[in-house]
Amino acid sequence: MTGQKLILDCDPGHDDALAILLAAGDPRSDLLAITTVAGNQTIEKVTRNARAVCTIAGVTVPVARGAAGPLAREAIIAPDYHGDSGLDGPVLPAPEVPLDPRPAAQLIVETVMAHDPGTVTLVPTGPLTNIALALALEPRLAERVRRVSLMGGSYTRGNRTPAAEFNIMADPEAAAAVFAASWPVTMVGLDLTHQALADDAFRSRVRTLGTPLATFVEDLLGFFSAAYARRGFAAPAVHDLCAVAAVLEPEVMTYRDAFVAIELAGTWTTGMTVTDFDGLLDRPANTRVAVALDRDRLWDLTVAAIAQLGR
Ligand code: BDR
Ligand code: CA
Repeated sequence: MTGQKLILDCDPGHDDALAILLAAGDPRSDLLAITTVAGNQTIEKVTRNARAVCTIAGVTVPVARGAAGPLAREAIIAPDYHGDSGLDGPVLPAPEVPLDPRPAAQLIVETVMAHDPGTVTLVPTGPLTNIALALALEPRLAERVRRVSLMGGSYTRGNRTPAAEFNIMADPEAAAAVFAASWPVTMVGLDLTHQALADDAFRSRVRTLGTPLATFVEDLLGFFSAAYARRGFAAPAVHDLCAVAAVLEPEVMTYRDAFVAIELAGTWTTGMTVTDFDGLLDRPANTRVAVALDRDRLWDLTVAAIAQLGR
């Protein structure tokens, strides 16, 4: 395989499930492993969900369970968006893919260190706990990893609080460690992912595939749509898909460099990704911030990936 080597660290989650499908089904991807982290639901549920998605999609990469909660705070979950199971909507198949015995952080370290320097990209689509733990376990990861392409944060608004996006708010200390490390970081935040609303045109293209996996995706998007409709959105934002797309087809979005810091102690702003595009803080840029999405192109590559899987 000569594709982009990826490790997807996720908390499925409807949009995480789509991220798995893109990472597994795109011909330019070499998905090395999937790791799970508590976030949208408990670690037991999101790990079961990751394995269920792999089962229905026919994905056979190692899947390892990660952190059951954040580094230094009480866990928060998101049943309001993802339901009691974390993946409400479709009937979930019994997971048939095995669970790797290693903790996620160990699997991340061993996988990255087993490949040539600068070849493995980490794609976190949940709280950043596992990534921070892996970095603490093996500080050389910061030079070894090609890039971290993460879904999280925002430079305008939050979704968990007015200031903070869920993945960063769920473990701000872990996020601070990830943004402060020397590896290149792409932040695919809400400003970008709120442009990725899975509208009827996209859903109808998925339906037309006519496979059991396509039905599964449609059932996911049905539930997710209702959750977003309650918050005034015309369609659900499939955030996590965008962090994978940024690796496989970077031209699907545009970017601006900025210094990004995580607010750890604000009265109202804990978990905010403070984003300095203008050099006001006189710090070198540490992040490539995604700003504008070519949505049609995102749908093209997502539909093509789903068509490759689960048959
Ligand atoms: C992020 O939070 C989760 O609910 C989604 O899966 C996504 O990763 C969006 O804020
Ligand atoms: Ca997620």
